Amino acid sequence: MAVTSIRKAGTVAVRPAEPEDAAAIAAIHVTAWHEAYAGLLPDEMIAALTVEVRQAWWAQVLSKPAPGPHEAVYLVEVEGRLAGFGVGNAQRSDTLAAGFDGEIRGPYVVRAAQRRGAGRALVAATAAGLEQVGHRAVGAWVLRTNVPGRRFLEGLGGTLINGPEAVRGHGRLTEVAYGWHDVARLVAAAAPAPRDGDGRAAPPPPRTG
Ligand SMILES: CC(C)(COP(=O)(O)OP(=O)(O)OC[C@H]1O[C@@H](n2cnc3c(N)ncnc32)[C@H](O)[C@@H]1OP(=O)(O)O)[C@@H](O)C(=O)NCCC(=O)NCCS
Repeated sequence: MAVTSIRKAGTVAVRPAEPEDAAAIAAIHVTAWHEAYAGLLPDEMIAALTVEVRQAWWAQVLSKPAPGPHEAVYLVEVEGRLAGFGVGNAQRSDTLAAGFDGEIRGPYVVRAAQRRGAGRALVAATAAGLEQVGHRAVGAWVLRTNVPGRRFLEGLGGTLINGPEAVRGHGRLTEVAYGWHDVARLVAAAAPAPRDGDGRAAPPPPRTG
């Protein structure tokens, strides 16, 4: 797994996932999915994502003997509690591969921990990990109707890639793609902003002179 140092921003800390995190990530995954997609995805699709199913999946993902350098899973803790995850890997989509050789998946942050900088911190670590192993550009798929998720990606400088749309789930959901031509810019854009003790963005330093 590509390893980045633990990044901290106030009470937000990101670290690479370990095999023993499978159960905890599964619980976070299911919670975040239910919170994010209720009303956006068919109920049966949401109901099918259970902790049991996801735990088996994450255990398999994290237990690969030597996870390739092009796939890395990061966790974020907010005030010491696991709050979300993000994944970076080599681009899986043929449609995007020509211009965007890396991919970020997610991030997912549980609602109770949102707007504390956890999402940005995850993207910063994930993109830095991709840059570290030689990726130059990054693409990300997001549900077309996921407006908050799209605003988040746009806030990090992601540009809607005109054209490609992915239809998944037997035609029941459509994803659009965002891209960053320069992974270093994404790392810089996502680098956690300083937060105060309550998790709010810290005010800019006073101007001098
Ligand atoms: C999108 C998501 C990852 C953001 O996580 P987060 O920890 O709340 O994000 P941050 O606190 O780092 O927010 C960074 C910036 O993104 C933007 N942003 C975050 N959530 C937003 C929302 N709901 N609406 C509009 N802009 C948003 C803001 O500009 C925010 O900065 P600010 O808080 O200083 O205004 C989280 O809401 C989530 O997990 N959503 C469900 C899954 C999802 O949509 N994932 C992303 C695409 S697949």
